[in-house]
Amino acid sequence: MILSRTDPTSVATCVKEIRAGGLIGLPTETVYGLGADASNDAAVAKIFQAKGRPQNHPLIVHISDQDGGLSGAEHFATKIPEFARLLMLAFWPGPLTLILPRREGVGRASAGGQQTIGLRCPDHFDAQAILHGLRNAPGPVVWGVAAPSANQFGRVSPTTAAHVESEMGTDLLILDGGPCSLGIESTIVDCSRGVPVLLRPGSMTAAQIEAACGQALRAAKDMPTHTAAPRASGTLESHYAPRAKVCLLSKDALKTALQNRSDSKTKPAKAPIGVYVRSFTPKDESALAVRQMPMDAERAAYELFAVLRDLDAHNVAEIWVESVPNEPLWAGVADRLQRASS
Ligand code: TXA
Ligand code: MG
Repeated sequence: MILSRTDPTSVATCVKEIRAGGLIGLPTETVYGLGADASNDAAVAKIFQAKGRPQNHPLIVHISDQDGGLSGAEHFATKIPEFARLLMLAFWPGPLTLILPRREGVGRASAGGQQTIGLRCPDHFDAQAILHGLRNAPGPVVWGVAAPSANQFGRVSPTTAAHVESEMGTDLLILDGGPCSLGIESTIVDCSRGVPVLLRPGSMTAAQIEAACGQALRAAKDMPTHTAAPRASGTLESHYAPRAKVCLLSKDALKTALQNRSDSKTKPAKAPIGVYVRSFTPKDESALAVRQMPMDAERAAYELFAVLRDLDAHNVAEIWVESVPNEPLWAGVADRLQRASS
């Protein structure tokens, strides 16, 4: 059930549901989450079940922006390094998740049993209204909401309340906070290894992160303890995938593929394909569902998942996507496209 943000009872309904050990669809500035009380292991188990996600995949815990997020962070994490505090100061509330050493006995199920915990202080009015209500309104204190993206495991993240409903069904209470303003998931920086390590790019650049914390940002693959274990399921090679097969092509390769397709007269009833193109406009052809990608990286991120979902809804067999510039501002979009095409 989708709850309107203009209904004054919606936030209280969500607070009540979480306190009762239930799940909600949580709007954030990145993507919608599927949220539960991060300290209630039985409630957290329902998230894994609803998503079809393996239990050992850790979830992100969302905390209120009181004290810039620090008091919430200190509830769940311990030994917070100075560079992580600088990142909180610079980017919270905002689309940055920090992996920190987990305080013993707190949020075990949310962390998928790991010794670390992923924390994020979302920059979204309705998300914060719920998080504040959980911490401050009369009733048991809830310090955080564990919430992975509200999609079936491995699928495209939802950026509207309607997307969440189509992934999770109509029984779930979903607070409609409008379309997510950023559109791709948060940047994840691991702060548990003494130096900042980028686990997942998002909407801020590596240079911005380095400037904020005064340290070089390492890549996960360059770390000595790098293993293939899915510490972050968002870092699995194949993820964020629509049903249709996604093919990532350079501008020239895409032009050639389209030309070959229109040249081949052998198959009159060609299967429809989706085309997501940046730098040119393909010739009109009935068997093509064409979407134009914005030239601006922020705008492209904003609509990326909605477009993949929309093309999928056209029952296309394949989606041909023009690759994006190899530039820092495009890193988040490039990463999601890479995974969608794996
Ligand atoms: O923008 C976002 O981050 C969204 C919204 C809802 O906040 N959430 C999101 O959650 O993308 P999810 O579960 O789809 O991806 C979170 C990633 C996962 O890949 C998870 O494994 C990783 O964060 N993560 C969480 N805790 C971790 C930990 N302790 N160590 C390593 N990775 C962790
Ligand atoms: Mg996800």
